[in-house]
Amino acid sequence: MRLGVNIDHIATLRQARKDVYPGLLAAARECLKGGADGITIHLREDRRHIQDKDVFLLRQTFPETHLNLEMAAVDSIAKIACQVKPDSVCLVPEKRQELTTEGGLDAKSGIKKIKSISQKMRHSGIRVSLFIDPDAGQVRAAQEAGADMVELHTGAFAEYSDPQRPNFDRKRAREELQKLLSAAKLAKSLGLQVNAGHGLTYKNVRALSGQKKLFTEFNIGHNIIARAVLVGLKQAVSEMKEIIE
Ligand code: PXP
Repeated sequence: MRLGVNIDHIATLRQARKDVYPGLLAAARECLKGGADGITIHLREDRRHIQDKDVFLLRQTFPETHLNLEMAAVDSIAKIACQVKPDSVCLVPEKRQELTTEGGLDAKSGIKKIKSISQKMRHSGIRVSLFIDPDAGQVRAAQEAGADMVELHTGAFAEYSDPQRPNFDRKRAREELQKLLSAAKLAKSLGLQVNAGHGLTYKNVRALSGQKKLFTEFNIGHNIIARAVLVGLKQAVSEMKEIIE
């Protein structure tokens, strides 16, 4: 199982002062030293954290490292992706007001646009993932849209499964876990690679990482970066890597 470390949160700290530190390249280097299998970044339309030059610099500096670019299904960002050529893009829904990505992409209603962006990506040699809720209809739509992978949104599971979070609810956590497992099995049976992410922590990731044959990759950011404040990034990444392995 692979670990993609989402380093948007490092850029958030930098952009809080619109300064030049902490360095994103240095952060990526520490993640790799800690055993990360790839780096994930989200170039949002409002550029609240990752900036265009970050995306280009990361690609140039780490040409051999798996770079996963999260992006809205819009032409302006697709154009940048085709120039940068990350290894993969993950299409996500985007709302200006949200704190973080809320809910999965509606692959059913957005299928025409998603198909057209996916084709552009494929022409540039970029694999396409769709960030969707764990729902059978969305999984089927993802396959129809020509995606190579789905990233299942683990946000609801994460919200209910952590005893310290205000919405902790053991029963709902179990239900959400079942939804994730069924969606993952369906996606796999349709030939899609299955990834997962959002709200995953050192604790709750174990429920999914135990499913060795289902999930290929986890994209995790906030909990790792929060731990890094206390123990350093390399150590925080290696602790997560150890768990998911
Ligand atoms: N995957 C996707 C598609 C996301 O939008 C995010 C959040 O940026 C993540 C994974 C990582 O989520 P978290 O920071 O909660 O670990």
